[in-house]
Amino acid sequence: MAHDGHPEFPSTRMRRNRSEDWVRRLTRESHVTPSDLIWPVFVQEGRGVRTPIPSMPGVDRLSIDLLVDAVGEAKSLGIPAIALFPVTPPELKTQDGDEATNPDNLVCRAVRDIKDAHDDIGVICDVALDPYTTHGQDGIVRDGEVLNDETVAALCAQAFVQAQAGCDVIAPSDMMDGRIGAIREALDEEGLEHVALLAYAAKYASAFYGPFRDAVGSAQNLGTADKRTYQMDPANTDEALREVALDVAEGADMVMVKPGMPYLDIVRRVKESFGLPTFAYQVSGEYSMLRGAADQGWLDWDKVILESILSFKRAGADGVLTYAAPEIAKLLGG
Ligand code: PBG
Repeated sequence: MAHDGHPEFPSTRMRRNRSEDWVRRLTRESHVTPSDLIWPVFVQEGRGVRTPIPSMPGVDRLSIDLLVDAVGEAKSLGIPAIALFPVTPPELKTQDGDEATNPDNLVCRAVRDIKDAHDDIGVICDVALDPYTTHGQDGIVRDGEVLNDETVAALCAQAFVQAQAGCDVIAPSDMMDGRIGAIREALDEEGLEHVALLAYAAKYASAFYGPFRDAVGSAQNLGTADKRTYQMDPANTDEALREVALDVAEGADMVMVKPGMPYLDIVRRVKESFGLPTFAYQVSGEYSMLRGAADQGWLDWDKVILESILSFKRAGADGVLTYAAPEIAKLLGG
């Protein structure tokens, strides 16, 4: 007997269950379907405008009209939700990111137009000030410090205008302390208790966000600064569980781990510890890494992108935010 109680070779032959496609399908543990996918999209001003992002080949910033069409396509592919990120015109960026709380800002207009055109597809809005600040930080900065409680007040106002515009899920990505509870309370007070909260509960200070910052134009605002006083240290795992526990206690409906593939151990621990809907964000740098290698002919894109999504499912994620969502849904025959 082998140590696991099963008979040893030659009675046991592991290859029997791998011998043909039918038995591989029959014994498969994890599956990817279009319902596992959330599609992050970049929205910009203008009409009929599509601008490629050089560091994310295959991903474009879209004006609202084109985005509305793209969301329709995503819906017909079976993708359950999109996550919106605005490319704020530089002249609207300020020290305190006031444009974030303008009820007619780009994101709010996009939400309204998407909701007018389509039903039964979830719209997720990011909450954080970085698309709107001249310094590119996610919060309000005074004397070089990102202020927590002042930022939380601004985030509540930002979440309110987005929820009012009709978004289904508010996703705070700022990593300020106490923001989930404060936003929940602010929304409930305004009769917006139906709007869900997806907490970027364990978000790391990662260099894999580089291409995203190019895409939304915050890279030049941030310059050489970093976000390590609020995003997590990539060396830590226990701290991630404390972050998630706090967000759950404050009212998060779903939680997220970000980045994705370099942090699958965190996905696994979070899912096992809390049993909440748990999502992983395959961030811009992960997308660009795979896409760049595929464009060079070094990797088979169709195969590696599906394998990467499977890795999240295996780790316990209920779904994945990925820039490749429509392509994956097509590969799956959606
Ligand atoms: C901003 C935000 C970031 C991402 C999502 N929301 C960047 C950052 O924290 O600097 C990164 C997403 C990606 O890299 O795909 N709060």
